[in-house]
This record gives sequence, structure tokens and C-alpha cells, in this order.
Amino acid sequence: MARDRVQVRKVIEGTQEIPTLPTVLAKINEVVRNPRASANDVGTLISQDQALTAKTLRLVNSAFYGFPRKISNITRAIVILGFQKVKNLALTASVLDAFKGKGAGPFDYVGFWKHSLATAVAADALAKRVRAADVEDAFVGGLIHDIGKVVLAQFLAPECEEVMARVRERDCLMVDAEKEVLGFHHGLMGEWVAEKWQFPPRLAAAIRMHHTPGATREGGDLVNIVHVADILARALGIGSGGDARIPQVSAETWDNLDLGPRQVDQVVDDLLKGYAKAGDFLELLQS
Ligand SMILES: [Fe+2]
Ligand SMILES: [Fe+2]
Repeated sequence: MARDRVQVRKVIEGTQEIPTLPTVLAKINEVVRNPRASANDVGTLISQDQALTAKTLRLVNSAFYGFPRKISNITRAIVILGFQKVKNLALTASVLDAFKGKGAGPFDYVGFWKHSLATAVAADALAKRVRAADVEDAFVGGLIHDIGKVVLAQFLAPECEEVMARVRERDCLMVDAEKEVLGFHHGLMGEWVAEKWQFPPRLAAAIRMHHTPGATREGGDLVNIVHVADILARALGIGSGGDARIPQVSAETWDNLDLGPRQVDQVVDDLLKGYAKAGDFLELLQS
């Protein structure tokens, strides 16, 4: 019998089961919220964790950002890119690192992370194009929007097999098969992971609602941005979201983001160009 949501939530909250992010990230979050914090304060904090520093600098120096000269320390990266971006790159490096080398069972992990990265690049591009307030959270939101599927694959293996079998038989969305098999879906499990990682509530809400963005205003623009970014990554066939469906963008999302066909074309262009330069992000999963 499928486990109920209370049992699954306990699995997620259990410290050994879901990877924890470096404790330094919680401290960084605190410091970033302080308006008087300096680049040096944040730089000093990240630099305490050598592995995190190396991975963050690798992303800072990736082709995705295309700086002509190598940025060799965190404080300098903060001066050039800003607090929020460097914090989010440290977060991205930690998430990718926490899940590296995982991959067994019926779930296509390589395809999954390609889809997640493409969604992150699309969300980042879209947030900039629509001048959303949540630009800095969009990349991380896109990257982890489907993290609940990893929980399903890693910790609920029999249920995952059943979900994937239904997806294959009926060519349906994973989210619909999950609701049938479990009674809830990867969005909710993803929200629990985001809460465990102490991500901002808007980000957690965006993860929960990315398949039904019209149902809430809780996550602000971020919900709509992740919703569209997920569909664009699917439409362009980058990686695999676990099923082959390309859902429609919700009517409320078009209105809420005030999005037109011209902007969508621009974002598609940004996504293709950005994804082509984002190889370092995927390599962090394999290194
Ligand atoms: Fe999803
Ligand atoms: Fe997705």
C-alpha cells in the first residue's frame, strides 16, 4: 500500500534521508538579509567552506556568465555579481553536489537534471524579460522545481515504479499518475524539501504550485515563471521531466506575467543560448 503523506513528510524531515545543505548556507541567508552586511562579510562566510568556495567559483567562472577574466575569490565575485547571485550560486552548487552520483531505478536522472537546468535557465531569462521582482530566486526555483521527483525515485521506489508504469501506459503527466498512486504529488514533496532546506516561503510555494499556478498568489511571479519555464524546457525537448507531455501554459499565467508571443520567442532564444553555455552546472553533478 502506498505510504500516506504524513509518513512521507517524516521521511523528508528525517535528517539522514534527504541530503542536507551546508550549514554555512543558513548563515549566509541571515547575513544577506542584513542591509548593512558587506561583500566581505558574505565572502568570509562562504570562504570558510573550501569545497563550497571551489564549486561556487567554478560556476561564477563558467561560460554561462562569460567573464573575460577569471574571478579567483568570493569577495570579488560578490563585488562583480552581487550578494544574491553569489549566494544563489553557492546554493546551486550545494544542491547539485548533494544529489551527485544518484541514479538508479526506473527514473532517468541525467534527463531529469538536464530538464531541471533548462528550466532554471528559462526561469532566469523569463524573470529578466518580464522584469519580475523575483529575478534572483528564479534560477534556483527552476533548478529545484521537480526535486520532489527525486524524493519519489529515491525513497518511494515501489510507488515510483507504479507511477512510471502508468506514465508509460497512458502517456500522462507524472503529476497526474502521482496523484492517483500516492494521493499527492512531487510539488508538495518538493515544498517539504525546500522547507527543510530553509528556502524562502515564496520559493517553496512556487515549487508546490508549478503545475497549478492559477490556484494561488502565494508565490508571486515566481510560481508563474517556474510554470512557464518548465513547459518551455519540455517544448524544446531538453532533458526529461519524467514524462513526454507538453502541458499548456495556464491562462492566468499569461495575464499575470503580461506575457506575449514576442517575449516568449526571446526567452526561447535566451534558453537555447544559455543552456548551451551551462555545461559546468551539469558537470558538478558528475565530478
Ligand atoms: Fe513538475
Ligand atoms: Fe518539470
